[in-house]
Amino acid sequence: MATERNPWFELRRSAIQGRGAFATRRIRRGTRIIEYTGEIITDEEADRRYDDEKMDRHHTYLFAVDVNHVIDGGRRGNLSRFINHSCDPNAEAVIEDNRVFIEALRTIEPGEEILYDYQYERDGEPHESWDRLYACECGAPNCRGTILKPEKKKRRSAKAPRGAKKSTRRPPGTGPSRSKPATRKRQRAVR
Ligand SMILES: C[S@@+](CC[C@H](N)C(=O)[O-])C[C@H]1O[C@@H](n2cnc3c(N)ncnc32)[C@H](O)[C@@H]1O
Ligand SMILES: [Zn+2]
Repeated sequence: MATERNPWFELRRSAIQGRGAFATRRIRRGTRIIEYTGEIITDEEADRRYDDEKMDRHHTYLFAVDVNHVIDGGRRGNLSRFINHSCDPNAEAVIEDNRVFIEALRTIEPGEEILYDYQYERDGEPHESWDRLYACECGAPNCRGTILKPEKKKRRSAKAPRGAKKSTRRPPGTGPSRSKPATRKRQRAVR
């Protein structure tokens, strides 16, 4: 890893957590910064490798690509695994043909930390340990306090107003639905 380089960023200690990716030059909106790589494993194998319940604070390099496949950036991964989460991100994760790419959402200036919204799935029943396990340290004014996906808003009415059009755009973070034990979380890309 010592010799690994990326044309857009370098690793530095981050005020958010551990190490982070900091831009070394101006990155224009839409730039594909890096592919999120690593060993592609099944969900079951990911669960065997990492047990959130035994962690004091959640820390993994997993990225869920679809219902059954997870990229483990901790094995055979690249520098993308050091990109931290923010509730006010300047980058996003995009899935294309089962590959994940990190792209700039806006112009990122040299020295800025590159950040995307992990949107960890809230699978299963909420658990009181989640606040501690998934606490967010991004420091953004709109920080939601957690690296988990925002909670679903309660529907005001079951009936849509007459004439209302159905949205064709999927909201960020909606991947294939998964029924998982409460504590297992992986990052999920915007589709
Ligand atoms: C893919 S790693 C990111 C790189 C990490 N900073 C490192 O040095 O290994 C993901 C882990 O970083 C931590 N992390 C990333 N963004 C965070 C945030 N906004 N608040 C708290 N922890 C964060 C969490 O522990 C998460 O599981
Ligand atoms: Zn936050």
